Amino acid sequence: MTDRYCVFGHPVGHSKSPQIHAAFAAQTGQALSYQATEAPLDDFAGAWHAFAAAGGRGANVTVPFKEQAWRLADVLSPRARRAGAVNTLSLDAAGKLHGDTTDGVGLVNDLRAHAAPLEGARVLVLGAGGAVRGVLELLLAAEPASLTIANRTAGKAEALAADFRDLGEIRGGGFETLTGRGRYDLVINGTSASLAGDLPPLPDALFAQGGLAYDMMYGAEPTVFLRWAAERGARSVDGLGMLIEQAAESFWLWRGVRPDTAAVRERLRRAL
Ligand code: ATR
Repeated sequence: MTDRYCVFGHPVGHSKSPQIHAAFAAQTGQALSYQATEAPLDDFAGAWHAFAAAGGRGANVTVPFKEQAWRLADVLSPRARRAGAVNTLSLDAAGKLHGDTTDGVGLVNDLRAHAAPLEGARVLVLGAGGAVRGVLELLLAAEPASLTIANRTAGKAEALAADFRDLGEIRGGGFETLTGRGRYDLVINGTSASLAGDLPPLPDALFAQGGLAYDMMYGAEPTVFLRWAAERGARSVDGLGMLIEQAAESFWLWRGVRPDTAAVRERLRRAL
């Protein structure tokens, strides 16, 4: 029987994950099926159990179920435990459900694909929600000179920085603390402000020479943040590659095979 996988979300109709995993499966010769499944908001666990009973081997999990998936897993990877979220579920041969998160790897691999300044760099992350928490461990593992978190609600950035202080040089505060604090080699927008077409209040002198702006969101057009950054001389990259790279890491967890992401990047970019 063909191994079954899916992505759970709500809504999930817009998800590009079925397209990405179908391309990975064709490229690597893996026999599997992958569909998008809308789980009910109040019964994610029921949706997973029904899928597993029908032969489901694993799943990706997106908004708003990543915390529920974290609670459902029998075994959490260390990086998922710290992220407080699971985006990849896998059933092992004994029927135990493993929870992992591939978002941090996805972001860092995409940053590397774009030759972004990271090791020894001054890195700024905007936002202090679940999306940011999910990538901090991997960002710190790349050993930036410093990592600053700035958020509309300053206390959330401070608390998040405190949670990761054992892993590296990290501090958090409100957007107002950015003024006069120097320039950054890499600025990652992890707020959901782009969704509403909003821009966080940022000082003009934000980017160092050769600086790169990265938005974890993507779309057919550059986000407000990326346009703002480009006007200030920064190179800008959106989050489409992160989506593909986190999918590649999930695929590897499930199948033990690493797909080549370059061809899939080009195809998805053209289809936006
Ligand atoms: P996600 O899972 O996408 O991270 P979240 O946990 O709700 O979602 O976090 C959303 C993030 O975007 C938060 O950092 C939020 O700032 P607050 O903590 O102050 O709420 C940020 N955000 C959302 N809309 C914003 C806006 N218009 N301007 C600036 N920041 C915004």
